[in-house]
Amino acid sequence: MSIKINQINDWVAEIIGFDCANMTREMRQEVEEAFKRNHVLAFRDQSLTPRELSAFSRKFGPLESPINKLYVHPESNDVLILSNEIRPDGTAVGVVDGGDGWHSDSSHMAIPAKATILQSIKNPDVGGDTLYCNMELVLNALPQSTRDRIKGHFGVHNVSKLLNPRMTVSTNRPDAKDFYEKAAKTKPSVLQPMIRTHPVTGVHSLYVSPRFTIAIDGMDDAEAQALLDELFEYILDERFQYRHVWSDRDLVIWDNRCLNHKATGNLSPGDIRRMHRTVLAGDQAF
Ligand code: OGA
Ligand code: MN
Repeated sequence: MSIKINQINDWVAEIIGFDCANMTREMRQEVEEAFKRNHVLAFRDQSLTPRELSAFSRKFGPLESPINKLYVHPESNDVLILSNEIRPDGTAVGVVDGGDGWHSDSSHMAIPAKATILQSIKNPDVGGDTLYCNMELVLNALPQSTRDRIKGHFGVHNVSKLLNPRMTVSTNRPDAKDFYEKAAKTKPSVLQPMIRTHPVTGVHSLYVSPRFTIAIDGMDDAEAQALLDELFEYILDERFQYRHVWSDRDLVIWDNRCLNHKATGNLSPGDIRRMHRTVLAGDQAF
């Protein structure tokens, strides 16, 4: 074993003394093994350039191309900038409202994301944590009667906040209204199984989110919304959560196939948070 792994809890680990920019094939295999046993891996003390982040990410497989081209890093098309910084001319440096609601990345696409890699470039003094919810634990905690109601059903997932009564469009992000108006017209909903089987471990998890699941296919809407509300309550239970408080130069990879996550925000006025992000492409959920 050439990498050092410290368990933070049963499903989260940190990796220390590791240089993501110089990962050998053997080290990559060890990281992949660690990623089978853990849903979140936090690599400490990384300072990758955008190109190095892209190269590191690509060693794990093909990447998704960022859907918001406005905020792609000028040095790498693979890297999306998340930032609350607004330039003097009113334009945003990155996606301002990234992750502001519990979700699994790209579940609104027919082929959703496998994993997301997020690198901290600038941490705020206060706030800016990321919360993760283990949806395997959530599924296990559901009463049998609720499991029976969702079994075999498909959630309707859509990227546009304008079609989602649980979300509001951030007024901080200059292009957000246009983006979601266009998305509502051009990005059709997709169906995802409400219970998902992890393609590597075979473990089942609940695969819905307040951010992207707007209905249940074939279910009366009043009944579906009440059921979704009941399911979403479980995500808020801290027993199923891990809070990542970002240290400078952290790089975190998480498994979208069995987690929901959310940016907690709550920055002080004027304080800047900036992250660089790549997404590993996944397989169809089943
Ligand atoms: C993401 C995301 C959360 C955060 O990058 O997909 O949801 O805390 N980020 O920035
Ligand atoms: Mn996300």
